[in-house]
Amino acid sequence: MNEPPINRLPTDAFIDPSGRNKTEIEALLQQVVSLLVEQMAQAEARSPLPDPLPLAQFQQWAQIPQQSIDSETLLGEVRSHLTHSMNAAHPGYIGHMDSIPTTMSLVGDLLVAALNNNMLSVEMSPVFSRLEPLLMQQIAARFGLGEGSGGVMVSGGSLANLQALSVARNQAFDAVDTGVVGLAKQPVFFVSEVAHTSMQKAAMMMGLGANSAIALRTNSNSQVDINDLAQKLAQAESNGQQPFAIVATAGTTVTGNIDPIPEMAEIAKAHSLWFHVDAAYGGAVIFSDAHRDLLAGIEQADSITFNPQKWLYVAKTCATVLFKDFDILNRHFRILAPYMGDDEQWPNLGELTVQGTRHADVLKLWLSLQHIGIDGYANIIDHNYRLTEQFVRRVSNRPYLQLASQPQMNIVCFRFAPKEVQSSHQDELNAKLQRYLLAEATDSSAAVFLSLPRYRGQRWLKAVLLNPYTQLETIEGLFTRIDSFRSLSGQ
Ligand SMILES: Cc1ncc(COP(=O)(O)O)c(C=O)c1O
Repeated sequence: MNEPPINRLPTDAFIDPSGRNKTEIEALLQQVVSLLVEQMAQAEARSPLPDPLPLAQFQQWAQIPQQSIDSETLLGEVRSHLTHSMNAAHPGYIGHMDSIPTTMSLVGDLLVAALNNNMLSVEMSPVFSRLEPLLMQQIAARFGLGEGSGGVMVSGGSLANLQALSVARNQAFDAVDTGVVGLAKQPVFFVSEVAHTSMQKAAMMMGLGANSAIALRTNSNSQVDINDLAQKLAQAESNGQQPFAIVATAGTTVTGNIDPIPEMAEIAKAHSLWFHVDAAYGGAVIFSDAHRDLLAGIEQADSITFNPQKWLYVAKTCATVLFKDFDILNRHFRILAPYMGDDEQWPNLGELTVQGTRHADVLKLWLSLQHIGIDGYANIIDHNYRLTEQFVRRVSNRPYLQLASQPQMNIVCFRFAPKEVQSSHQDELNAKLQRYLLAEATDSSAAVFLSLPRYRGQRWLKAVLLNPYTQLETIEGLFTRIDSFRSLSGQ
């Protein structure tokens, strides 16, 4: 017989199941751990958003070698990837909904990668396929969805929204087998004009076309105008369209505002429409007794998108879609995989979700929840709110700064808008301020990254006060530098 292929591979290519390379693997992983700790424990010494590397470096990296490169050399290369990556752990990285990950996320992901179980079926992940639905029931219960509720994990909020809306559509049109092509009436749903773009994507992918996501006007706080919803609903019906769902957002992507959930739920109920809440960002608030009332009414939702990868600090990806009536997935979504073993009690999750093969994200979520606990999360969330209050006070005290909306979460969207500067020049000025805050810091620990979203036709600066290491001093430093930018720019 030929020489086994394993003999021709690097000796640490796999973890030998009989333990022959145990010492070597341990040494390698120890080096990885040292590298990881070295990088993450010095995150503050690197810029929140390092300068990009030259193209030639990426082209060199992208080459696939004919011969093996040893792990030592590769770890050296990877160090460079790490130091040039977006640095969410920096307390001044406050531009996006990207959080520093819980330590338990790292532990979970490493172990899950080693096990390489598959969330497709119970047989292929006997522990995680049982843990996931039970944990989803607990989370659904925290949202108040009641008995019979549950959910599944998916790779991100866009997939969660797609799945929720697909179930809503399938139920409304009994569409699992026959689809919606050829229906006399065009299916439509209603969603805020500032909702996440995954809504249009979902409509496009569901074969309805992006225009089927009918945009609702919002007030000056980015919240759906209920009168507009009532009008557009009546208009759709008189246009011969067939509404099937209403979507509220709890934590809009740019300003973190919350739609009037109870009023929207009531309209959905009165018209027998599915009610979905996209709480991808804001859902975490249910972990804080002090702030959970902000989501009052969410318990009436038929489905909820909730991403622990955002405000619960679980490493990406970690997202969920929850259903008031979990069994609806059996009736209006499930496609059986006959090649998989059956289990009377536990469904094969790959039959209930868009994805088949799926990473066991549940372990890092479970570990994080166990390790931090509800009180721990409440502490962080409440701290974030206090910091936001301080931030907003400083914006409001400066007449040359303008808020995009009244913040309801830990997101503040504002702009440098001195009266003397024509509004047509303000976008450029805000882009300059963004660069100034990032690049002109005296040292990297003082650098702050704010993002620059386009919102209502203008550029704004967005701060997401997520990082538990962001303290009042970071905020004070930021505003001192905004003030110096103002002096320097002569405004
Ligand atoms: C409100 C909201 N919904 C959905 C999404 C989409 O989530 P993902 O990027 O995980 O697909 C986002 C992303 O930021 C979001 O803010």
